Amino acid sequence: MILVSGATGNVGGELLRHLRAEGVAVRALTRDPARAALPADVDVDVVKGDFGSPQSLAKPFSGVDAVFLMRSGNETAVLEEAAAAGVRRVVLLSTLAVESRPESLIGRMHRDAEQAIEKSGLEWTFLRPGQFATNTRAWKAQLAVGDVVRTPFARVALPTIHPGDIATVAHVALTEDGHAGESYTLTGPEPITPVHQVETIGRAIGRTLRHEEITAESAEREMSAHMPAEIVAATLEFIGSPNEMETRVVPAVETVTGKPARTFAEWARDNADLFR
Ligand SMILES: NC(=O)c1ccc[n+]([C@@H]2O[C@H](COP(=O)([O-])OP(=O)(O)OC[C@H]3O[C@@H](n4cnc5c(N)ncnc54)[C@H](OP(=O)(O)O)[C@@H]3O)[C@@H](O)[C@H]2O)c1
Repeated sequence: MILVSGATGNVGGELLRHLRAEGVAVRALTRDPARAALPADVDVDVVKGDFGSPQSLAKPFSGVDAVFLMRSGNETAVLEEAAAAGVRRVVLLSTLAVESRPESLIGRMHRDAEQAIEKSGLEWTFLRPGQFATNTRAWKAQLAVGDVVRTPFARVALPTIHPGDIATVAHVALTEDGHAGESYTLTGPEPITPVHQVETIGRAIGRTLRHEEITAESAEREMSAHMPAEIVAATLEFIGSPNEMETRVVPAVETVTGKPARTFAEWARDNADLFR
């Protein structure tokens, strides 16, 4: 049995689909089963649990061999519960920032989680993806009222990753041997700018869309309405002034899964309904 946390999120939702398609026994963790928006086409056992209260995890962990783990900041206590329940293997959704910006808040928070897991005595694999294609979901509101998407850093290109590819790597690491102690840096197959992403979504939904550049200061004001200031600053650094590690394409998706990483155009086609 595999426990998938983040099951209502971008990567965990895709992972549920992959595992169920292969007939793997899966349990989906959420803090609120009554409100959980799980993929409608996936038939799965849903359990309530919160990493903030490790005692709530005894039932979710019972009978589980491997866990797909979201970072919570509470890894030491969470993994004590997991080990006590007999869990053997954990695959953490970490971030490229652990390598590319180890001193940033995002890098430090995820590295702290990794270190707690390294000390847990469980078998571990860390997934360190760069920017997700799903971040463009934030454009939905702009596209509901017009054909223009406004973002900063119009011409900065990053090798955005399809979260389904992160899920495929997680699937392999959770279900096959040979991945213990590995940290996989994960990217998409080609760098793409916001301008090109907007055009690509337009093609996927059959509309002519236009990108308009805004200043980093305007973006900071908008993002600060719903994100902590330190996270906003780190995110703007990452998308505005990427370093060499953040712009390079790495082949790990294909090396681990045997299939090439999918392009942003493929993600946009797979998810066109999000923007309609
Ligand atoms: N976006 C990017 O570009 C990017 C890049 C690299 C790494 N990352 C990392 O990827 C992760 C986000 O992944 P995602 O986009 O797939 O997730 P997401 O769509 O943001 O959803 C978050 C998930 O975490 C679960 N969750 C939150 N707090 C929890 C808690 N206390 N206990 C149990 N579950 C909890 C939520 O479950 P319920 O609400 O159902 O309880 C939800 O399913 C973050 O760690 C982020 O740093 C993101």
